[in-house]
Amino acid sequence: MREAGVNLVSLGIFSWALLEPEEGRYEFGWLDEVMDLLHANGIAVDLANASASPPPWFTVRYPDSAPVDADGVRQTHGSRQAFAACSPDYRRAAAALTTAIAERYAQHPALAMWHVHNEYGCHNQPDFGPHAERAFREWLGRRYESLEALNDAWGTAFWSQHYYDWSEIMPPRRSGAHVNPSQQLDFARFSSDALLECFEAEAAIIRARSDKPVTTNFMGHGMGLHAPVDYWRWAQSMDLVSNDHYLIAEDPRNHQDLALVADLTRGWADNSPWLLMEHSTSAVNWQPRNIAKAPGQMLRNSFQHLARGADGILFFQWRASRAGAEKYHSGMVPHAGRDTKVWREVVELGAALEKASELAGSRVVAPAALVFDTDARWGAELDSHPSVEAQPVRELREWHDALYRAGITTDLRQSTDDLSSYRLVVAPMLYAVTADGAANLRRYVEGGGTLLLSYFSGIVDEHDRIIMDPVEGGGYPGAFRELLGVEIEEFFPLRAGEAVALTAGSGARWSELGRPTTAEVISRYEAGPTAGSPAMTRNLAGEGHAYYVGTAPDEEALRSLLPRVFADAGLERPAHSSEFPDLEVVTRSSGEASWIVAINHGEADARLDVDGTELLSGTPTHGELTVPAGGVVVVRLSSEATPVAEPLA
Ligand code: GLA
Repeated sequence: MREAGVNLVSLGIFSWALLEPEEGRYEFGWLDEVMDLLHANGIAVDLANASASPPPWFTVRYPDSAPVDADGVRQTHGSRQAFAACSPDYRRAAAALTTAIAERYAQHPALAMWHVHNEYGCHNQPDFGPHAERAFREWLGRRYESLEALNDAWGTAFWSQHYYDWSEIMPPRRSGAHVNPSQQLDFARFSSDALLECFEAEAAIIRARSDKPVTTNFMGHGMGLHAPVDYWRWAQSMDLVSNDHYLIAEDPRNHQDLALVADLTRGWADNSPWLLMEHSTSAVNWQPRNIAKAPGQMLRNSFQHLARGADGILFFQWRASRAGAEKYHSGMVPHAGRDTKVWREVVELGAALEKASELAGSRVVAPAALVFDTDARWGAELDSHPSVEAQPVRELREWHDALYRAGITTDLRQSTDDLSSYRLVVAPMLYAVTADGAANLRRYVEGGGTLLLSYFSGIVDEHDRIIMDPVEGGGYPGAFRELLGVEIEEFFPLRAGEAVALTAGSGARWSELGRPTTAEVISRYEAGPTAGSPAMTRNLAGEGHAYYVGTAPDEEALRSLLPRVFADAGLERPAHSSEFPDLEVVTRSSGEASWIVAINHGEADARLDVDGTELLSGTPTHGELTVPAGGVVVVRLSSEATPVAEPLA
């Protein structure tokens, strides 16, 4: 570890069974030894409270503490995380363990921070068992106060679902047809809150005994992954935000997916520095084909996270294990030992991070933001919708990619956040929106902002009810019709693989029948049943502009749109973005100093006009720098140099 420059170790995460061999009897000897050894070598510890995986004796003694799936099948121990969040026995046992660990190690000199649990919601969510049933009813009682309000919010007049007594309400277990969508949405919120209660209870035990920061590792890995936890809400309970990210090995643009997840993590952290708690040195074990990382790829991945706001880079795991379900998962020390590509790169990374350490504490500079609300995501992912192709995460990723390719760094925000510092805000598939969120976006535009909304946005309220006048109707999108100056009367999702011709380029997945009211039409559907309807529009509102895109535009369609959007927003594409499309450049700034981190994902060397000192080589750039193919540079900008991305004043 000293050779690799390791200065922080996450410890004890899945050690419950070793720490508590029988209920109430603890064995800390081995952990004392590891803590002391790390400390003796100048390495700090991110200590787990080990509550993530109860031991087999626990499930045997308390069988109803295991989670139950939607079909009523109870899981058991044998893998990990076999517990139900609302089981009183689980909560009591986790609290007792947390108390014992916090009391023993709060004053240990190696202790730097606390790692509560592990990836909440992984493997055991949602739980549909009896404890969840009881707690869901209590949660609903607090949310709605009366059954009348619940029946109204859930639209239970439909399909004979009216509830007359709280005891009739169930978690959305398997039923013959689509389960009530508002019920599903509330159950997702409840399940996230139930886990958050577990975190809060354990964090409170720790905080009463220790002043070190408390976190839990979020699970933002790979945007395709379903995260059953509302991280925006959770982030507020963290002393610092930490995230795990794993590349989807077979995705040819997985570095852009990484960039998006890092941007999202920074959003959860409210733009404060965050910690990459886990990534892999090379292959993982849980994808269909676990492709190892190419030489240099792990360093690029690490510096992408750093560029986008991470102040520390950790890995799962130190040594690749000899046994168990993850033995084919890479580690910092591979099975083959230290005379290896992986170990040499781990040592190289340690040295490079040391040289870049002055970036710690600085903030990422982003002139644009993407809006990504949990409710909008969970709502859009419900069943019985116009098209299975309308997937909010894919839309988010594609719009992030469009800006990434244009060299524009984006923050991730919620619809209710203050957006006034951004030149451009893109809200992809903001399906569900509250009245507050819609008003905030309107205020942003009227105050001079440039907003782009994509299709299937502003359709429903927080209960998944169509936003419309109950008698007159009024056309989609109810929340943004006026702001956008368009009225949509009918969705025309496309067939799989089908493209619809636009005035320039084409659209995929979705089209619409509608008309502009006050908007200027940039592009129309040219063929099919929606021919003549607007596909891309621009509307003036107050001092700003609201754009609408009613389809998934291809590259040519984007080319006909984005220059106008950027011009209205006063955003300039950095020069390198068209010349070197594989060069990722991000600015961090402390107020006094600014740095750029540039990562070349391409196979050809790239040139960057930049004046300052390159920190990894320690050499001045004299106005120009070559970023070698596959390489990484970090430049402290000279005080006269203009940062690549300039924020609004
Ligand atoms: C997650 C878990 C780790 C490990 C890795 C494997 O992030 O937190 O324990 O299983 O996945 O990629």
